[in-house]
Amino acid sequence: MTAPRALPAPHATPLDLGGRTALVTGAAGGIGRACALRLAAAGAEVRAVDRDAAGLEALAEAARGAGGAVEPHVLDLTDLDAAELAAAGTDVLVNNAGLQLVRPIEEFPPDVFHTVLTVMLEAPFRLIRGALPHMYGQGWGRIVNVSSVHGLRASAYKSAYVAAKHGLEGLSKTTALEGAPRGVTSNCVNPAYVRTPLVEKQIADQARTHGIPEERVLSEVMLRDSAVRRLIEPEEVAEAVAYLCGPQASFVTGTSLVLDGGWTAH
Ligand SMILES: NC(=O)c1ccc[n+]([C@@H]2O[C@H](COP(=O)([O-])OP(=O)(O)OC[C@H]3O[C@@H](n4cnc5c(N)ncnc54)[C@H](O)[C@@H]3O)[C@@H](O)[C@H]2O)c1
Repeated sequence: MTAPRALPAPHATPLDLGGRTALVTGAAGGIGRACALRLAAAGAEVRAVDRDAAGLEALAEAARGAGGAVEPHVLDLTDLDAAELAAAGTDVLVNNAGLQLVRPIEEFPPDVFHTVLTVMLEAPFRLIRGALPHMYGQGWGRIVNVSSVHGLRASAYKSAYVAAKHGLEGLSKTTALEGAPRGVTSNCVNPAYVRTPLVEKQIADQARTHGIPEERVLSEVMLRDSAVRRLIEPEEVAEAVAYLCGPQASFVTGTSLVLDGGWTAH
């Protein structure tokens, strides 16, 4: 990928999560890893959930090196009962795990559509369901759902992903309404294309589906609608998540914090 890198995001948000536990799904790489490290740096004990055991071990080691606490929890989120159990007792929940397949609807495999909806919508529901009793019991909780610009806009060939993210937006708003009287906020963060393995893996798929060479995918597909002509870094998304977990965001709920370089301004 040739787009220029942004400067590394500083920890701009004062955040003290000492004594709190935070569960981050999809924490083995990309945005989830950045969120886990950011919340651990704020003092949280992070329960890092992913099906990628090696990625979780690498994350735990990186966190230890930085003086943070990350406990790896290997779990495939299609096991919905296990997902709900894993969320019990957590103070902060970051629903982040996701996957992508780029195909026209008539060629989209139904089993993949089902898996995408299970991991990206049904698992967040079950995790929220598992987390709320403890949050309600103490009158405080923070739920952040890593949605996407595709929670607000559609793109061709991403039927499952767009459907899941639009559903996640609705789930997040409903959680906000139910949680508000009990000290629990629920919000989405909505990045455009972030520099992560999910995006790197998509390039060949996008090139084939759009019928263009791989080197044109970044400028002609991914950054086509972005006024800021670069990918976002995972650390920039993690900083938005940190903001939503802090005391300065206690009135912010049921909303979507859009980090899209101006895409949805069109
Ligand atoms: N990368 C982007 O451009 C971008 C843009 C907007 C939103 N997002 C969203 O951000 C989130 C993270 O994406 P990313 O780019 O960091 O992706 P990534 O592929 O780097 O990380 C996703 C993680 O989810 C995990 N995962 C996938 N299926 C799982 C399952 N069944 N059980 C447990 N873990 C599973 C993977 O192992 C991986 O570690 C996703 O929800 C994605 O939709 C990404």
